[in-house]
Amino acid sequence: MGCAWSAPAKVIVFGEHWVVHGGLALAAAIGLRARAYGSPSESGLWVFSQLYRIGENLMESCSRFCNLLAGFRLVASSYGRSLWPARIRIESDIPVGAGLGSSAATALAAVAAYACVGGLEPGYDVLWRAAFEAEKVVHGNPSGVDNTVALYGGFILYRRGSGFKRVEFRGMRDTRLLIVDSGVSRSTRIAVERFTVRLERLGRLGRRLLETADGIVEEALAALSRGDSVRLGELMDVAHGLLNAMGVSHPVLEEIVWIARREGALGAKLTGAGMGGTAIVLVDLEHASRVKKALELRGFRVYEVELGVPGLQGPV
Ligand code: MEV
Repeated sequence: MGCAWSAPAKVIVFGEHWVVHGGLALAAAIGLRARAYGSPSESGLWVFSQLYRIGENLMESCSRFCNLLAGFRLVASSYGRSLWPARIRIESDIPVGAGLGSSAATALAAVAAYACVGGLEPGYDVLWRAAFEAEKVVHGNPSGVDNTVALYGGFILYRRGSGFKRVEFRGMRDTRLLIVDSGVSRSTRIAVERFTVRLERLGRLGRRLLETADGIVEEALAALSRGDSVRLGELMDVAHGLLNAMGVSHPVLEEIVWIARREGALGAKLTGAGMGGTAIVLVDLEHASRVKKALELRGFRVYEVELGVPGLQGPV
């Protein structure tokens, strides 16, 4: 058996940003994956990325893959070991800088492949912490939702510091979730900082908005369990409005949301860090192709992928 591992991308359906500050988030693993292939090395800890078309020996220095180095170090130190030589090759279907959790999925697959080359089978706890260390290098102050979804897969309700709960959804078969890439890439770190500054400036009002954001997630769970897609769409619009008010939307995201609503979507919002990246659009079957076509005509890439897919998988 080789050391090939894969982990999924995610969409945050509700609660991005608020989750960094203790709010609830509802997220789903989606059918786009990052893959890491580990093999032994004579010397050096080499990471090769198909996407960046570069290789880096992390035993000498790091520039592109310092996040992975942090994850590898955590695994090694959890077993009282120093870093061991390995070759890790990374491939991914997940767009980068698009708010779909590419960094967490890549880190998790790479860390698992690296551990495998070292003859280790870390438990979920070590893998979670290793991917979280990697996320800290990329994002500064991650909530942990991205690496949780990449690890466990499915649909997850997450609150920082309180762990997560799996949720199951039935009864939404008459709707689809479109994932729309704005094509504007941005830094999660900057978006998280911008949101945080505004939240702090708002003081008591900010705390009330955080409670409102939690209320939206709770209502969304109720709507999902009733199969009430109209309500769910309305809640997406409200969630988007709040994120816009907090300064993390972008003119192109607003355009996506407005085109979607004009063409009959049930609701639309940014997903992930915002300021570019990706939006999600809830559509019923009657309007699905019309909404999709309008967005594609305007030049946006629209993904229709499976939701609630399995988390980390391997080794194969
Ligand atoms: C990024 O996918 C989601 C944010 O809420 C940041 C985080 O939770 O770490 C913006």
